[in-house]
Amino acid sequence: MTIHPNLVSWQAARAKFPSVWIGFVPTMGALHAGHRALLERAWAENDRVVLSIFVNPTQFNDQSDFAHYPKTLEADLQLAEGLVTDVIVPTYDELYPDGYRYRVTENRFSTELEGAHRPGHFDGVLTVVMKLLNLVQANRAYFGEKDWQQLALVRDMAAAFFLPTEIVACPTIREPSGLALSSRNERLSASGRAHAANFSRILRESPDANHAASALQSTGFEVDYVTDRAGIRLGAIKFEGVRLIDNVRL
Ligand code: PAF
Repeated sequence: MTIHPNLVSWQAARAKFPSVWIGFVPTMGALHAGHRALLERAWAENDRVVLSIFVNPTQFNDQSDFAHYPKTLEADLQLAEGLVTDVIVPTYDELYPDGYRYRVTENRFSTELEGAHRPGHFDGVLTVVMKLLNLVQANRAYFGEKDWQQLALVRDMAAAFFLPTEIVACPTIREPSGLALSSRNERLSASGRAHAANFSRILRESPDANHAASALQSTGFEVDYVTDRAGIRLGAIKFEGVRLIDNVRL
């Protein structure tokens, strides 16, 4: 596993393997078993696997959320060991030489759901993913279905800009309780984490989105939204000051 502390190192390495199959897993670090499942799939399907670790400031509309985002590089490298050939750990100045003057904006779906609650979030996500896809030039890039809206927007962006990388959707990994794995779960207390398992259960068991929203509220969650789209029920809640998102197939 080669760690590229800067983009020059990565670009020099990339030039040496022009014709192998490359799988790419972009992350913001704080890796957990959900990321590991993405890496395992990438490892099974490609000759090389590239992992990027970059906490992208442009996708945080709340600066305290950015400041508190966990940074666990040593543990991340341990989790990736054996499943990754190259780790890219770029700096902001390298990734944003333009100071974010140029950005990718989707102006319809990105303003709904997560976008309505986190203005500018998807501009930041799409811009950094575009930059990373251009830098890595992978055959396939792997995204989790837990971030369903992100996955849909990235897939549509790849199609809209004729990007050569196939966007691969991977199922959400859950704790035995049903709680979807997320780096944010670490910020819940032990009892909060147990209680948060009700989120996916209520999404799954409620007859419609309105019932799910009321049930979540009466269970003690602050509800940002619950909605049914294209056979998927999506929700976002806050609990113990932590914002969680999830979705289930209907
Ligand atoms: O899902 C994430 O971790 C991030 O949004 C991503 C895709 C790595 C872009 O920063």
